[in-house]
Amino acid sequence: MKKQLLAILLLALSTASPAFAADLVETRKANFKQSGQILKAVRGQIAASDWQAIADGAQKIADWAEKMPEYFPASAPSRGAAPSIWENFDDFKSKAADNRKAALALKAAAQSGDSDAIMGAVRTLGGTCKSCHSKYQAN
Ligand code: HEC
Repeated sequence: MKKQLLAILLLALSTASPAFAADLVETRKANFKQSGQILKAVRGQIAASDWQAIADGAQKIADWAEKMPEYFPASAPSRGAAPSIWENFDDFKSKAADNRKAALALKAAAQSGDSDAIMGAVRTLGGTCKSCHSKYQAN
């Protein structure tokens, strides 16, 4: 319910104000960058047996994946976002949901402290990033 309200609010504000659409684009880029940095850090965290850091990072990716579609209203296009996102928005949402599921699987693997399982989960998670980018990232 709270999430729905937020989505409606974001949509309303973003159609009302082009400046707000630019904020959405900047925020989503920053969140994607963060996901990339989290994935890059995993190898070092495995070496340090820092399972908690891996679990925390995975949760952040999952949290972002959950909100992701709300940051892509049709009123906030960008150079990096393929216009086909808005022709296939249900598919875009389902790719974000796959991303979230894979991030939560990484979190579970981190909690097991099994580095092979963690690397496997990282690869699967990375695959869900790529499967969205290959269709919907424009640059
Ligand atoms: C459901 C689709 C989707 C998923 C899942 C997804 N991305 Fe993206 N990603 C995009 C789109 C669309 C853009 C372009 C956004 C824009 O420029 O407005 C993007 C942009 C990016 C960027 C460039 C940000 C910038 O500064 O321009 C990075 C880095 C990135 N994603 C990393 C990731 C990583 C890592 C994951 C997985 C953990 C991921 N993405 C999952 C759709 C997705």
